[in-house]
Amino acid sequence: MEDKVIVITGASSGIGESAARLLRAQGANVVVVGRSAKTAEVARELDSPYYLADFTKLDDVRRLAEELRRNFPRIDVLANNAGGVMSNRRVLTVDGFEMTIQVNYLAAFLLTNLLLETLIASRAAVIATSSLAQRGAGKLDPGDFTLADNYGQQGAYGKAKLMDVLFAKELNARYHSAGISAAAFHPGVVRTDFSKEFGGGWDFIYKSFIRHLLISPQKGADTLVWLASSQPDRDWQPGQYYQKRKPKPPSRQAQDPRLANDLWESTTRALGLDQPEL
Ligand SMILES: NC(=O)c1ccc[n+]([C@@H]2O[C@H](COP(=O)([O-])OP(=O)(O)OC[C@H]3O[C@@H](n4cnc5c(N)ncnc54)[C@H](OP(=O)(O)O)[C@@H]3O)[C@@H](O)[C@H]2O)c1
Repeated sequence: MEDKVIVITGASSGIGESAARLLRAQGANVVVVGRSAKTAEVARELDSPYYLADFTKLDDVRRLAEELRRNFPRIDVLANNAGGVMSNRRVLTVDGFEMTIQVNYLAAFLLTNLLLETLIASRAAVIATSSLAQRGAGKLDPGDFTLADNYGQQGAYGKAKLMDVLFAKELNARYHSAGISAAAFHPGVVRTDFSKEFGGGWDFIYKSFIRHLLISPQKGADTLVWLASSQPDRDWQPGQYYQKRKPKPPSRQAQDPRLANDLWESTTRALGLDQPEL
């Protein structure tokens, strides 16, 4: 683990913060990425560098990618972990996308693609914090990032987390032979600030008397820490969806390679991205 450079988004609290602490304790060079002032506090405690970006603004993601590219010629692990339920009503970001889809998926897609050359050169692992909620996505239209016609809070979150799984699978399908290993995972139902701002239907689980039954952020970080600290192709199978360190079949839609390809193509168009020549 010594010298491994591990970039974790959403590392200012919850699962990402716990993963950052556990990986730092193993000797990794953790790069703490967050949105709030707490990011600096966590980084100071870990003696780690930190970066701030608000994923509701894609210009912040572009700036973050530029700073990471400039400061880290090697990135061994990129953990796309930032996210959660962003609103209890349909809100469009300044970029014109539905907010939960943007923060959980589009921002991670953009960051990863802007770092692609570094990630390939580093033979990096790219890990997506998805969720069991991908099973509740409803039918996914791979070109719909605004959810103008069928918004529901749970459906939006489910779709975003389904997109995370499809993204990990497609990233792996396209770039594993070039050196990247990608996986998605479900952390469990974890006692975090997950729905602190816009609870909606999630309040019962995360804020009521049953909150104490949820697993700790340390436990929730376990599969992320394991994926980040072990060896792809030897210890875990790239392209898979994991839960409790074991591969699990995600929803039927998440296993559809055509849907994964269509989603990739429509995302690159929506974000105006060019794919690098390999
Ligand atoms: N908790 C669960 O039961 C559960 C279950 C399945 C999946 N997940 C997933 O696990 C991941 C981590 O969530 P958590 O449970 O640890 O919740 P959390 O404690 O609320 O952490 C969320 C992290 O995401 C960051 N974030 C939120 N909005 C952002 C934005 N607009 N721009 C940049 N960063 C932003 C937060 O940054 P700041 O704090 O700095 O604002 C924070 O570091 C999420 O992707 C979530 O969907 C959680």
